[in-house]
Amino acid sequence: MKVLVLGASGATGKLVVQQLVKRNIKVRIVVRESAFIPSQISDDQSIEIIKGNVNDFEIAKIKNLLKDCDSVICCLGHNISFKGIFGPPRKLVFNTVVKIMEALQSLDSNPKFILMSTTAYTNRKTGELNTFGEKIVFTLLKLLLPPHKDNMLAADHLVYKLSTKNNIDWVAVRPDSLFDEESVSAYEIHNKKIRSAIFNPGKTSRINVSHFMAELVTNEKLWQEWTYKTPVIYNKE
Ligand SMILES: NC(=O)c1ccc[n+]([C@@H]2O[C@H](COP(=O)([O-])OP(=O)(O)OC[C@H]3O[C@@H](n4cnc5c(N)ncnc54)[C@H](OP(=O)(O)O)[C@@H]3O)[C@@H](O)[C@H]2O)c1
Repeated sequence: MKVLVLGASGATGKLVVQQLVKRNIKVRIVVRESAFIPSQISDDQSIEIIKGNVNDFEIAKIKNLLKDCDSVICCLGHNISFKGIFGPPRKLVFNTVVKIMEALQSLDSNPKFILMSTTAYTNRKTGELNTFGEKIVFTLLKLLLPPHKDNMLAADHLVYKLSTKNNIDWVAVRPDSLFDEESVSAYEIHNKKIRSAIFNPGKTSRINVSHFMAELVTNEKLWQEWTYKTPVIYNKE
């Protein structure tokens, strides 16, 4: 089994790679030339490292990356700096999702696609609604914060632009406020948000996100349960 991980140099992406390697899964990662990669990743023979910026890759190159992969996990996100938030590429995640979807459609195989999304995304298709206060805050975020808009567009693309007819199986995992902890701990998965992402956010450790994503790759029953859905993940309190 082989998994392509995008955003593998990020705080969550690194943990996803570790979780996959732990399960004896081969991993291919795409990282920017400037990215810092810990030695556990760079020295591991089961990890293939492709240098470059996925945002600049043409479809043909993406198809090549996907060819022998059983799953793709995207943990891309904008760096928390002025340049990362307001500079180009403003649609890093959306553009990548669109290109991956296009490339996947041309393959004979049917790799799983897992997107790292956020509880800031409201899945109206499942009946989720924002309160008046949330609507105001989310509208402002969409206008003022390009990374927020990017995440919304990327999730919308999966929820609204793809149908089951596209033959692409996807899951968009929605963590709440991210934090770091040493080990995997108890977590819960919900079909819908059970608290306000704005006014009463919960917490999700990155390692638990990575664990759930790796389980989605390996556990068919879990995959069937969540395909075409946007599960919310919270650490158990
Ligand atoms: N903060 C929260 O509480 C929260 C909650 C839910 C969801 N999220 C979402 O989850 C995402 C991942 O979180 P994280 O903390 O793991 O993110 P992170 O550590 O910032 O990782 C972001 C990844 O994206 C890559 N990247 C950034 N800008 C890029 C560009 N212009 N071109 C190509 N690659 C680029 C980074 O590569 P480099 O190493 O090369 O920079 C890195 O691999 C967030 O960005 C956010 O959208 C966040």
